[in-house]
Amino acid sequence: MAFRDTRSKIIIKTPEQIEGIFRSSQLAAKTLKAVEPFVKPGVTTEFLNKICADFMRDHGAKAATLGYHGYPKESCISVNDVICHGIPGPYELRDGDIVNIDVTTILDGYFGDTSKMFEVGQTTEHAKRLIAVTKECLNIGIQQVFSGNQVGNIGFHINQHAVKNGYSTVYEFCGHGVGIRFHEEPEISHIADKNTGPVLAPGMIFTIEPMINAGKARAKVDKKDGWTARTIDGKLSAQFEHTICVTKGKPYVLTDIDNEFEVPAEIF
Ligand code: MF3
Ligand code: CO
Ligand code: CO
Repeated sequence: MAFRDTRSKIIIKTPEQIEGIFRSSQLAAKTLKAVEPFVKPGVTTEFLNKICADFMRDHGAKAATLGYHGYPKESCISVNDVICHGIPGPYELRDGDIVNIDVTTILDGYFGDTSKMFEVGQTTEHAKRLIAVTKECLNIGIQQVFSGNQVGNIGFHINQHAVKNGYSTVYEFCGHGVGIRFHEEPEISHIADKNTGPVLAPGMIFTIEPMINAGKARAKVDKKDGWTARTIDGKLSAQFEHTICVTKGKPYVLTDIDNEFEVPAEIF
């Protein structure tokens, strides 16, 4: 009986590569900080995209999304029932909207990928709770990032937390290895079986980016633009994303600029 070598295609980054991916990841996170003050009622998502695009360019980076499989913009901006891959455009934000902005930078050839939720004006308690639980789901996933653990345990714990709170986890879009290319191995499902998938080892870098729905889990992609993924029932969806490096100890959250996570002393 033969076992599949599930690790073979996962890139173990060198210390030099980790440093480069860290710098790109920090810039991606700073881009979200830079756009934050502009997220207000009346502003178009196209304008928010321009703020992100200018910030990345002015700091020496390229936006990885622009031209990626034909994607037309420098960010993804997903409002309310849009799960992910919302294309910035003429839509004007309204009081009560919830918005995910997702940016991926290429700095000195290295990729950093992060997204977070923004609230426009006064949002409902229901929306606030969905956002809070989605952030908890990401943090619970991050706690599973340690050497020797299996990838599946990330999604197992994320989905368990979502379901416990009456929500559902999107299964059509996943986290992914990142750093040297935009989307690398492994795929990080946010709903997985316990103790399944590749074994984590120091130097692996990937995103965790749970999309949590208030209603049904299913996504449908807009037939006209080929990108915008919406919930099938029109209910709200939220998402947070970090880029994370596996170390011999605690997870190293490369896109953390709010010092929410400890920085491990050593990686290998
Ligand atoms: N940044 C997204 C992710 O987290 C990917 C966007 S791909 C695009 O993986 F083409 F839609 F931009
Ligand atoms: Co990603
Ligand atoms: Co992203």
